[in-house]
Amino acid sequence: MLPLPFLFLASYTLVNAGSANKGDPCNQKDSRLQTGTFQFFSDCNSVTYCAANNTCVLKGCRRDEFPFGYEKGSHLPDKCPAGQFCPDEADECQDLLPVDSACQLNRDDECAPPPNADQLRDTTNRGLNVDGAVCLNNVCMWANVTADQTCVVENTGYIAYGASGEFIDIVSRGNCIVGLYCDAVSKQCKQEKALGEACTADKECSSWNCLASGTCGVDTSVPKHVGTGVYVAVGVGIFGGIFGTLLGLFFLHRRQRDQEREKRMQYWREQNAFHQNLLQMRQTARASILSLNGNSARSTMYGRDGLPSDEAPILQHAAPKGSGLRHYLGDDSSEYDDGMMMEPTPRRENERF
Ligand SMILES: *[C@@H]1O[C@H](CO)[C@@H](O)[C@H](O)[C@H]1NC(C)=O
Ligand SMILES: *[C@@H]1O[C@H](CO)[C@@H](O)[C@H](O)[C@H]1NC(C)=O
Repeated sequence: MLPLPFLFLASYTLVNAGSANKGDPCNQKDSRLQTGTFQFFSDCNSVTYCAANNTCVLKGCRRDEFPFGYEKGSHLPDKCPAGQFCPDEADECQDLLPVDSACQLNRDDECAPPPNADQLRDTTNRGLNVDGAVCLNNVCMWANVTADQTCVVENTGYIAYGASGEFIDIVSRGNCIVGLYCDAVSKQCKQEKALGEACTADKECSSWNCLASGTCGVDTSVPKHVGTGVYVAVGVGIFGGIFGTLLGLFFLHRRQRDQEREKRMQYWREQNAFHQNLLQMRQTARASILSLNGNSARSTMYGRDGLPSDEAPILQHAAPKGSGLRHYLGDDSSEYDDGMMMEPTPRRENERF
């Protein structure tokens, strides 16, 4: 079975039109079906057709809801009413063709349906016929041939492109009733094959999929369902991935935080030791000054703000307003103190003094 995107079908590609505009000359003999794609081509551009007088004339009908090549908002030719069809040239609507009339390739819709169209109509969406009518080898007929009766077969080789390059994809059509296929060798209608039966072409399988192994495989248009276990596994994978990442980052950052905290503790210990050294030095200095000058230093000392040290005690009383980490030394050495001190462990300090 061929993957559909690789099929070079006319309805899936851009319209391959000529470049002649409305009123330009064209040659009706150039109008043809392109090799490989069997797409209709003429010298005229996509909004005109080549008329009998070899002039490009605006198209008179359309088949597609949104035909290719028209400017946005421009006037589109009408679609044909029931009982009529728009030919490949799109010149004008024509009445449906009776059995044995000439029709265009793959244009089952050009042929008039049989009286028992409701029974013969293809409802499997495989394009076996349109309302029970089928155009084979450019002749209109009805898809009404029953099992082991003689049928007509039409093989068309489309150029297709796959992973290994260009190849021919043969589409085989017949006029058997739905559920049978026209065997190309015996030219007789045969029963379609069930899953697993041997086959040589897609048309032989009711699933429309003859595997490379030569047996009928499952219909490729059937959606694939996966078990609940797959959903569970995917869900667990997604949430496991998310929470695994979160936990990993948490532990990684926790280690970094611990390292940072240890650094800060180290720094604090150093600063504290430094501070204690300073206090000791000052104590030593005060002791030596007192022993040398007695109380004469008091009248000459100034506070940190340039105020006479006599006013320093006022500042001391503001101490409780500060944070737990900042306060004024409240001991008897305050007259020699130079203001605010960092002292995170006041109790230890009090023990010391
Ligand atoms: C060619 O034929 C179309 C109708 O088929 C007509 O509208 C058009 O005027 C004709 N052009 C010339 C140049 O005769
Ligand atoms: C089957 O279709 C053909 C045209 O393809 C028609 O001539 C013939 O009468 C039909 N047979 C039956 C039994 O309807």
